[in-house]
Amino acid sequence: MNHFLDIHTTDPAALRAIIDNAAAMKAARAGQMRGAPDDDQPLAGRMVALIFEKPSTRTRVSFDVGIRQMGGQTMLLSGSDMQLGHGETIADTARVLSRYVDLIMIRTFDESVLHEMAEYADVPVVNGLTDRTHPCQIMADVLTYEEHRGPIKGRKVVWSGDGNNVCASFLHAAAQFGFDFTFTGPAQLDPEAELIGLARKAGCKVQIERDPNEAVKGADLVVTDTWVSMHDSQSAKERRHNMLRPYQVNEALMAGAKPDALFMHCLPAHREEEVTSAVMDGAQSVVFDEAENRLHAQKAILRWCLGV
Ligand code: CP
Ligand code: NVA
Repeated sequence: MNHFLDIHTTDPAALRAIIDNAAAMKAARAGQMRGAPDDDQPLAGRMVALIFEKPSTRTRVSFDVGIRQMGGQTMLLSGSDMQLGHGETIADTARVLSRYVDLIMIRTFDESVLHEMAEYADVPVVNGLTDRTHPCQIMADVLTYEEHRGPIKGRKVVWSGDGNNVCASFLHAAAQFGFDFTFTGPAQLDPEAELIGLARKAGCKVQIERDPNEAVKGADLVVTDTWVSMHDSQSAKERRHNMLRPYQVNEALMAGAKPDALFMHCLPAHREEEVTSAVMDGAQSVVFDEAENRLHAQKAILRWCLGV
């Protein structure tokens, strides 16, 4: 069963095939209307459940549109409206959904929910973000980097800010795609040591640098994300902002990276907090390409999951 649960648990050859297939599918429909069907209709006859236990704009719309382009049907489900949110076990929900749909995409809180869903479902399960990781986002980001600058292998990626779920999937990708990764942020918000260890064990150069200006030297790509994620307590907001302010990505910080460095943010962004508008809207920013590429990358992920 081809579940897409995380980047580090997916075979590197499969990851490469997904990126290449996404690029090819994107090229094949260049210039077409968003709602135009793909010629081959690989998901014809397939029904996909899209479960959201947290808010979403990009994940929700890109999966829905991508599946429809491929000829499949979608069912958007809010976790709180399902029995899942009212005491039915994850295992039973997985068994039931497997009788109705051909694939389950879930955005949830604790990653144990995703893993239990995958264990008990008879159909592929895709991770649409958990408190711990966001693999679909980083597949879109690798596609975006390579579209603009060629192979990401051997490049230097710098993450500035909170060592959160998106950062974790970047670290997983560093190991699988072979790029160097520097984290710059306050020690309290470092990525988990286990993640860093895993990437280093895979031969990847991972550095922790507290000074953001030092960190960005030689960077090919600078990335950041919100200072307060959906799973973080709102009461910690002020404390987090105070800790993270020195790690804002602004023009001065970008000037320290390579002149052709790109800027990425998974969005939604909080302008003038983790990133300034000058950078978001500047020539180095590819944030809206990333958003578009969620669509193409996920279409390729779904095809890999379903073997179509
Ligand atoms: N980047 C991303 O996953 O956005 P949404 O929360 O809008 O889905
Ligand atoms: N780190 C953010 C990503 C949102 C797409 C969050 O989990 O809220």
